[in-house]
Amino acid sequence: MRFIPVEKLKPGMILGKNIKNTQESTLLRNGVELTDRFIAHLEARGYKGAYILDSISEGIMVPETIPQELFDDGVQAVKEANIEGLMVVAKQIAAEIISNQHIFPEMQDLRSYDDYTYHHSVNVGVYSTLIARKMKMGARELEHVCLAGVCHDLGKTRIPSTVINKPGKLTPEEYDLVKQHSRFSYDILADNYAISAKVKQAVLYHHENENGTGYPEGKMSEDIPLYSKILHVADVYDALTSKRPYKESYTTADALEYIMGGSGILFDREVVEALLAAVPAYQAGTEVELSNGEKAIVVKNSNMSLRPIVRLMSSGEDVDLSSNPDYYDVVIESRMTLKEDFVREVERLSNGVGGRIMRRVGDPRILVVDDMVTGLMALKTALNDKFKIIMAKSGMQALAYITKEGLPDLIILDIDMPGMNGFETLEEIQNRFDSDVPVIFLTALNNKDMVKRCKDMGASDYILKPVNPIYVRERVKSALDKYEDNLCR
Ligand SMILES: [Fe+2]
Ligand SMILES: [Fe+2]
Repeated sequence: MRFIPVEKLKPGMILGKNIKNTQESTLLRNGVELTDRFIAHLEARGYKGAYILDSISEGIMVPETIPQELFDDGVQAVKEANIEGLMVVAKQIAAEIISNQHIFPEMQDLRSYDDYTYHHSVNVGVYSTLIARKMKMGARELEHVCLAGVCHDLGKTRIPSTVINKPGKLTPEEYDLVKQHSRFSYDILADNYAISAKVKQAVLYHHENENGTGYPEGKMSEDIPLYSKILHVADVYDALTSKRPYKESYTTADALEYIMGGSGILFDREVVEALLAAVPAYQAGTEVELSNGEKAIVVKNSNMSLRPIVRLMSSGEDVDLSSNPDYYDVVIESRMTLKEDFVREVERLSNGVGGRIMRRVGDPRILVVDDMVTGLMALKTALNDKFKIIMAKSGMQALAYITKEGLPDLIILDIDMPGMNGFETLEEIQNRFDSDVPVIFLTALNNKDMVKRCKDMGASDYILKPVNPIYVRERVKSALDKYEDNLCR
């Protein structure tokens, strides 16, 4: 069985897996032969593709997921905000995950976007439990984590759906309202004595970031409860890999890469590691392109998430990328740099999440200050098409630029520079120009003192080197908007 994107589906192909529609009933059953009409139907409904059976993919098994009925019960209970129902479902999901080591999350590409809100909550429950299992938590804890996951966004029911589902930019007032949802979720659970305090806390703090830039309290790493850290990672992972009215979905591999980029900054490092171990970067049945130009289908995941066993399309031969010596220097190509459609996808995501950058008059100017040319070039490549990038190789050059041309819209500042370091440069800029321009610090070091120092200096953010292009774009956009977490609203 293998996954075929909708634009490559052809009449006569045999469906390998049921396709569900949004009303939780079966739209098409496995074994059905596709027709032009079916394909057009899938396309019109926003499905990204389907699993089909053919000879080249014979024997490839798509991983098991949570039983559909259980998932549907969860969706129903979320819809009705039925807490007792959610407690039963959380127990059952945890039991499934404990008894079946082979459960993986459903492949995101199969989902269409109009069913997001309720499915998201159940997905976060499932991902959180998978992460908690990797962190070797006991059965009772898995139930708690799962319950917190399925309940985390219940408070959104108290916010008008016109705001929650608004496709464009939120006003500052609307965004403040959206940010109340974690407290509302907490309030819904607060008086229920059957629910552990740990679950309630987890829900309250699921939008807190490691570096203190989250809400509702701006807590920093050691003050954020572990369950909340797990929900946070699961929440962002699901948001990234889901298609929404205002954005395309990331692939699993790119979403994982984004989250890795935020490790230690937004997300707890151990939790990120557990996610990487819990979710394979390339799911069995998906087509990939290798760096030697060969096309292949993922057969099975090995222990190394980025190097699965693949079947070559040309010969039908199976190759284990984690151990086959002929393939040591062959990697799976990232769609990040490869395909134009992915660039478009990221574009749309950038516009969709905020929709703000496009509305500015002229491109925003970003002053990048880094003593290393490689650092400057990496940022220029990541940001060049949307912003006007001004490069400075030292704090002195940066000051000279501002004196001449005025303050930019954003400053990205390397901390470790000879002469004036990043902190000193920022102090100078603030003193001399009375600047409140948002600043993102760049550094190869990642420790608590550094994070705290950046925060004390009033920086909007903190990015680790080497920079990940997708991650940088998101963070830059976020700093320019001064809105955090819009993605997960
Ligand atoms: Fe949330
Ligand atoms: Fe959420």
